[in-house]
Formats: sequence, C-alpha cells, structure tokens
Amino acid sequence: MIILAIETSCDDTAVSIVEKKRGALIVRSHIHYSQIPIHARFGGVVPEVAAREHAATLLPTLDRALKKAKIKLPNIDLIAVTQGPGLPPALSVGIDSARALSVTYNKPLVGINHMEGHIASVWPIKGIQNSPTTAPPLPAIGLVVSGGHTELHLVKKIGSYKLLGHTKDDAAGEAFDKVATLLGMPYPGGPAISKAALKGNPHAFKFPRPMIHDPSFAFSFAGLKTAVRYEVETKKRPTKKYVRDIAASFEQAVVDVLVTKTMRAQAAYRAKSILLVGGVAANKKLRSALQQKTLSAGIYFSAAPLALTSDNATMMAMVAAYRSLKGSKTTYKTMEARPRWELGR
Ligand code: KG4
Ligand code: ZN
Repeated sequence: MIILAIETSCDDTAVSIVEKKRGALIVRSHIHYSQIPIHARFGGVVPEVAAREHAATLLPTLDRALKKAKIKLPNIDLIAVTQGPGLPPALSVGIDSARALSVTYNKPLVGINHMEGHIASVWPIKGIQNSPTTAPPLPAIGLVVSGGHTELHLVKKIGSYKLLGHTKDDAAGEAFDKVATLLGMPYPGGPAISKAALKGNPHAFKFPRPMIHDPSFAFSFAGLKTAVRYEVETKKRPTKKYVRDIAASFEQAVVDVLVTKTMRAQAAYRAKSILLVGGVAANKKLRSALQQKTLSAGIYFSAAPLALTSDNATMMAMVAAYRSLKGSKTTYKTMEARPRWELGR
C-alpha cells in the first residue's frame, strides 16, 4: 500500500510518499519546502502570499518526492491531503491539486485533519530519525503546540479524540513569534528565543503564567506577551544580557503553563502517556520539562521526532495508514477545504 500525501495548510509545501507493509510504515520520501524566508519579510504568514507560493512549488515538490521514492503516479494506491484546519487559500492549493491527481489517475482520495496529523507524528515510522519503535500506550493526552494552535486532546485511540481545551487568544508559537519581534529577532521567533534563553536567567523577570490555576484546560498567552511588551518598552538600549534574561523568563512562563495544564489533564483522565507535538514541540526546555515530570509520575512520554515537529506531509500519510483509511474515487467531486475543522467533529 503506497500513500501519496500533500500538506499546504500554512507556510510549508510538503509532499511525502509512505509505504505500509505488513502493518509497518516506511517513509519513501519526505519533501518539504519552507516559505519562512518569504514570510519573514512581513513578520508572519500572509495567506495570499502562502497560496501563491504553494501554487508555484507544489508540482516541483511532488516531482521530487516521486523521484526520491522511485515511484510513478499510476503506482500510488491512495492520495491523502490536508483538508483543514488551516488558511483557506493555502489549503485550497493542496486540495485542488489532490483532486486533479485523483481524477486523472483514478485514485482514491481522502481528506486528513491537520491536528490529527500532528498527533500521529509520535507513532512509529521507519526512515524518520528518532521515531519511536512502538505506539504510545493509550489513552494519552496530546499537547498540540504550534504557531496556529495550542490544544489539549484526550487521545482514546488513533481516530478517536476529545478536545479538552484550547487557547482563547494567541497560540504558544504565536507568542514566541510576537515576543521575538519585540526583541528584534527574526521570524519565526521560537528557535531565536530558545537560543537566546540558553544563556539567560529564567527567574530574572516575574512574568505572569496566564490561567495556570484555572481548572479548565484552556490557555491564554496574549497577556503574557503584553507583560513582556510593557517590560521591554521601559528599556531604551537593551543589553545582550537583558534580551537573554527576557527570553529565558518568557520561555519559562510558557513552559510552566503548558506543563502544569498537561499534567493536570493526565491526572484527570488517568492517561497512560503524554504526547508532545507541533512546531513548538521542538523547544528543548519544554521537551525536557515534560520528560522530567512524566518520569517522576511513571507516565510514558513521547515528543515528535524533530523532522515531524513542523508541518509536513509524512504525518498526514501516517493518519491514513494507521487508520487504514480507504478514501474514494469520487471524493474529488465534492472535497472542499475545512478551514475551521475541529478534531473529533
Ligand atoms: O507546526 P508549525 O511548523 O506551524 C504551524 O502549524 O503553526 O509551528 C511553527 C511554530 C512557530 O510559531 C515557531 O516559532 C514555533 O513553532 N517554534 C518554536 C521552536 N521552533 C519552532 N517555538 C519554541 N521553541 C522552538 N524551538
Ligand atoms: Zn501544524
């Protein structure tokens, strides 16, 4: 069974080819073109620009993926495409291309939820560095943290989820990006902030931990970002040390909130494991804080392999493969983007 997967929900144009053989998954190609240098000029993702770039790069990306996998389109068994959530014009490029491929080559087509893709990224797949060798024990708590989302899910099994809570305003990654802009760092801010934070003092500034004591599983990061802005505005000529201390104190506040709420969800649902996925899952401090907490609680912990933290098509193929989705040869007639598709609905 060979799956061709396409992902264009935000600012990554990605195509992967994944083979399922006797229940095991192997990545045959994992091609990913990031638009970051283009959006960096605007300080964030511009949806129309993203769509134009997807349109320009998707076919060459598909070509590379097929060549790398040494596979031709007639030999594909299933086409999987990200249907939502995401930026409407960006999603449409991937979906329309997948529809065209489906009708031209008479292949079944299936739409995949982007958040489910992130969760599936901690299931095993050969050919991806540091991918686990076994599936996580279930039920699990899935913390999905990216530039567009911060969500806690109860993962009952692959394909069955309950959304426990999400951010009321900024996503965690968005907060990293906005604080980075305040500090004069390039977009995306996550990697720049965490690098600066390495040499900073996380206790230098007492930033708020929004909603940390709130019993719900909702998040809010806008107030934290504003607190950082008020502090930074007092400083006319920030020194290197000042910037590092701000970065470290801000990062610590985000990590404290994410870890506290995730562990609370684990206890409330007696989950057997914690899954950390999405772009912000690349953050070393967050990974090691959850690693430590789960170790002392005796809970299995899995963070997405680095190649699968940011948006990619391999994780979309993994959903189709692990759920044994079959798709249909007539889906191309009706498939539309679902920009606000909530996982589990
Ligand atoms: O999943 P992703 O690639 O795209 C979205 O679906 O949003 O996530 C991108 C986000 C950006 O906000 C970026 O700043 C953040 O992930 N990010 C990080 C790190 N690496 C990327 N945030 C914190 N620490 C990092 N090391
Ligand atoms: Zn994502």
